[in-house]
Amino acid sequence: MDKKNRNALIAGNWKMNMLASQVPAYWQGLEPGAKLAEGVSSALCVPFPLIPAVKAALAGSQVKVGAQDVSSHDKGAYTGEVSAAQLADLGVDYCIIGHSERRAYHGESDGLVNEKLKALLGAGITPIMCCGESLEQRDAGVTLSFVESQIKGGLEGIGPEEMKKVVIAYEPIWAIGTGRTATAEQAQEVCGYIRGVLGKLYGEELAKGVQILYGGSMNGKNAKELLAQPDIDGGLIGGASLKPEFADIIGAANE
Ligand code: 13P
Repeated sequence: MDKKNRNALIAGNWKMNMLASQVPAYWQGLEPGAKLAEGVSSALCVPFPLIPAVKAALAGSQVKVGAQDVSSHDKGAYTGEVSAAQLADLGVDYCIIGHSERRAYHGESDGLVNEKLKALLGAGITPIMCCGESLEQRDAGVTLSFVESQIKGGLEGIGPEEMKKVVIAYEPIWAIGTGRTATAEQAQEVCGYIRGVLGKLYGEELAKGVQILYGGSMNGKNAKELLAQPDIDGGLIGGASLKPEFADIIGAANE
């Protein structure tokens, strides 16, 4: 299996933006361009309270709804947490875990990301597990070894059948929200390396089937070149997913 046999995934990450009352107008702007070609999937990963409004707006569309985080616990006395079962109950199909913003501002470790990944798989939700280096790490030449350690830590104890249900997103921290996109070569180098790491862990055949996304200042203009790279199967889009421009990125994946 190679790129043409892997489906593309264009996922939006709204982060802590938007209000439920703004969702209908947002969807009106996006819907005309949000038609998916065969082999292309799309999802909007939205704040927890907005899930029902987005789910309602997207009813009848092919675009799925995702969340941005999940508790590692099943249920119980964990004030403020949201469980995988609660997300599944709302019809959530995808969930981002290990985003660099959660790692930076909420101290999330690879071990916690690993527990969250298991919680999602247990609830039948597709995890989008993020990894990516800081500018200091890139400058120090440790990008590949750092990303490898995040991948291995996040996937600890995950067997091959489970791995087939996991999506990986490579998001260099220096490219997030900065307008400074990784070049297609830089993004491909790391995404290709990640596939190699997965190959060593699970065998090459399985690794060839894993969806690997790029994220970091992806927009309607640069998406085409990034998505053309052999190991980039889609995008995880922040800022541009809040605008109708998100449809241009879907359009680039449809081509
Ligand atoms: P931007 O597209 O705004 O750079 O954000 C990327 C990101 O963090 C998606 O998860």
